[in-house]
Amino acid sequence: MTKFITHFESAIEPAVTLPANQIQTMHKSRPLWARYDLDAVARSMTKQQLAARPQTPWRYRELLPIGNCIEPVSLNESVSALISCRRLAKQMGLSHLSIKDEGQLPTCSFKCRGLSLAVTMARHFGIQRIAMSSNGNAGGAMAMYAARAGMQSVVFMPSNTPSANKMEAWVCGAKLFETNGWIDAGGKRIREGHDRGLWFDISTLKEPYRLEGKKTMGFEIAEQSDWSLPEVIIYPTGGGTALIAMWKAFKELREMGFLTSGTMPRFYASQSNGCQPIVSAWEAGKRFADRHEDPQTVASGIRVPTALGDFMVLDTLKESGGAAVAVEEANLAAWQSKVATAEGIIVCPETATCIGALEKLVDSGEVGRNERVVIVNTAAGQKYFEAPVPAVPQIDLNAETDWEDFETRYLKPANGKVCGAMRVN
Ligand SMILES: Cc1ncc(COP(=O)(O)O)c(C=O)c1O
Repeated sequence: MTKFITHFESAIEPAVTLPANQIQTMHKSRPLWARYDLDAVARSMTKQQLAARPQTPWRYRELLPIGNCIEPVSLNESVSALISCRRLAKQMGLSHLSIKDEGQLPTCSFKCRGLSLAVTMARHFGIQRIAMSSNGNAGGAMAMYAARAGMQSVVFMPSNTPSANKMEAWVCGAKLFETNGWIDAGGKRIREGHDRGLWFDISTLKEPYRLEGKKTMGFEIAEQSDWSLPEVIIYPTGGGTALIAMWKAFKELREMGFLTSGTMPRFYASQSNGCQPIVSAWEAGKRFADRHEDPQTVASGIRVPTALGDFMVLDTLKESGGAAVAVEEANLAAWQSKVATAEGIIVCPETATCIGALEKLVDSGEVGRNERVVIVNTAAGQKYFEAPVPAVPQIDLNAETDWEDFETRYLKPANGKVCGAMRVN
C-alpha cells in the first residue's frame, strides 16, 4: 500500500515545502501545489493496467493524495462522457468539437471531483466539521459528500444562488446560510470561523485537495483522447480551479511519458462580461486580477469577483498559449439553446460562455477549423430552474384545434416526410 505524494509546495514561493502526512491549508494565504514521485507512479501504473480498471475517477488514485491506501468517500462517481458534437461542430465551422459532460456526475456538476477528495482527506485527518463560501454547486456537493462521510457541513451562499443548490445543501443536512454579499465576502467570514477553530475551511483553493481531485477531469480527457490531447480546451472560469487542475494533470502525464503527442492543449478561460476579472487582467497583461465590482451574471458559478488562484489561472493561459475571452451576458440563453437544439445536451449558463468564446476564437482565426476542441460542461443546465423560458403559445383544450393553421403557424415547412409512413398525404 503506497502513497506517491511527496510534499506540498507554495504556489507563490516554490522553495517553501510542507509535509504531505498532515492536513494542509495554504502558505501565507496563498494556495499550495501537491507534488508526487512521478517516476515511481510511472513504474507502478501502466496504461494497459489503467485500461482494465473500473470506469471511475478513482482509477487515477496513484496521482491523488490518497494513493493506494486511503478509502475514498464516494457516491459511485463515473468517468464523465466526452461527447462528440458533429452537428454543432459543423454549425460552428469546425471538424472536431466535443463536450466533456460533467452534468452526468452524481452532484450533477464537476464539483464532485474536488469535494469527494477534499472530504476524504478531511475525514482521514480526523476533521468533523467542514465549511465553505459557495456560489452553489460546490456547497451542494460538499453537503452531499459530508453527509456520505457522516460529517457536519456549513455553507454560506449569496442570497441569489440557484434554489437547486440551496436545496442540495439543506436536504443533506448542511447548516445553510444566505449572505447579502458575494462569494469572496462570504469567504472572509468562513475563514474567520476556521481561524477560531469552528470548522475546517474547504473553500476554493484554501486547502490543496480539491484541486487535486479536479485533475481527474484532465486524466479522463487524456485517456478518452487515446493519450493524444486536444489542441484547444475552453473552460468557464470562476475561481479557475479545474482549469489549473487540468493543466497540472497534463503536465504530470507528460512527465510520466504517458502522452503520445508532443503538443499540449491551449487553454481558454471564458467569462461573462457581467463578471470578467480574469479577462480584464489578461487584457491588461497583469498576473493578479483586480476585483470585478458589482458582478452580474446568471451563470452563478462564475460570479466570482476575486479569485484566490488568479495568478495560477493567468499563468496557465500564458504557459499553454491560450487566452481569456469575455462574452455578452445577454446571449447566454441563446448559446445554451444552440447546443441543446443541435445536440440534445443542456449545458449550464456557465458553459454557454464557452460557446460564445468559441465563436469569437473561430471568427478571429485563433482556433483553426481542423483543431480538436473540447468544451467542459461543468453542470447540468437543468439545475438552473430559475432560468427564464420565453412565453410560449397556449393551446385551448376546450376548443377544436385547427391543424392546418397549427402546421403553418408553428411547424417547420414539411415535405411530406415529417412522420414518415405515418403521414397520410
Ligand atoms: C457550473 C459551474 N461552472 C463553472 C464554475 C467555475 O469553476 P472554477 O472555480 O473551477 O473556475 C463553477 C463554480 O462554482 C460552477 O458551479
